[in-house]
Amino acid sequence: MRAVKFFDQRPRKDPKALFGREREVSRVVRAFEANSWVAILGPRMAGKTSLAIASSYMFSEKNGYNVVFVDLRNSTTSRQATERILSRLPESIINKVTKYLSGVTLGTGGLSGSIRLRRNASASRALEDALFELDRTILILDEIQNIVQGVVPFMRALATAFNENDSLLVVFTGSYAGVLRKLFETFPSDEPYGRPPVQITVSPWPEFTALDFLRTGLKECGVKYNDNELGMALETWNSPRLA
Ligand SMILES: Nc1ncnc2c1ncn2[C@@H]1O[C@H](COP(=O)(O)OP(=O)(O)O)[C@@H](O)[C@H]1O
Ligand SMILES: [Mg+2]
Repeated sequence: MRAVKFFDQRPRKDPKALFGREREVSRVVRAFEANSWVAILGPRMAGKTSLAIASSYMFSEKNGYNVVFVDLRNSTTSRQATERILSRLPESIINKVTKYLSGVTLGTGGLSGSIRLRRNASASRALEDALFELDRTILILDEIQNIVQGVVPFMRALATAFNENDSLLVVFTGSYAGVLRKLFETFPSDEPYGRPPVQITVSPWPEFTALDFLRTGLKECGVKYNDNELGMALETWNSPRLA
């Protein structure tokens, strides 16, 4: 069971399961401690989501925060993104912003439901009001780079909520394109909306870390291997992958 987990295909949640990312984890945690928002940047499969989740849990366990994870990879408008974020928030928060909503289907415990904004309601006002109500919460906005419509009001709503709510922390992940680039353009350091996010880049592992990971994992799984096979595994890993 433990060994299977070593090669888990899903994002990692436990900082102890993050191999070779101690420096990045402590940078994220320090940024949270300094009350900064954080942007985790890097290519696909580099470990952005894992770093965001594991660091958030590490900080939240010590400081008594809740972690809210929102997968935004399929959101292309700020309206869709807002509906997705709202659908991950606790019922008690949703009850405070019902004037903006036309439909609410709550899942168990108020999570994973689906939420629709009223047609004429402002998505950014709804987002700002809801986030303002959150108490000791880290909001992970995963893969936000696909939002192309309504980016500026979306970011301003986030910035306003973030600046007004001292117990809200926000972490973005994505590639440095589209909305993430806009984020830094929208919030240059001299903006009245406050500081831009702390940028933490996740680079793919250097070869020696990848080898170390494979050796450790295979040993834990009790699988015999030789250096030739390790070399072949690295070659496969290095060859251009299909998008
Ligand atoms: N530090 C790490 N140690 C071991 N495995 C990792 C690490 N970071 C990521 N992974 C694994 O790599 C894969 C991609 O990670 P993920 O966090 O989803 O990357 P990204 O969000 O950048 O696409 C997953 O299978 C995950 O479990
Ligand atoms: Mg990811």
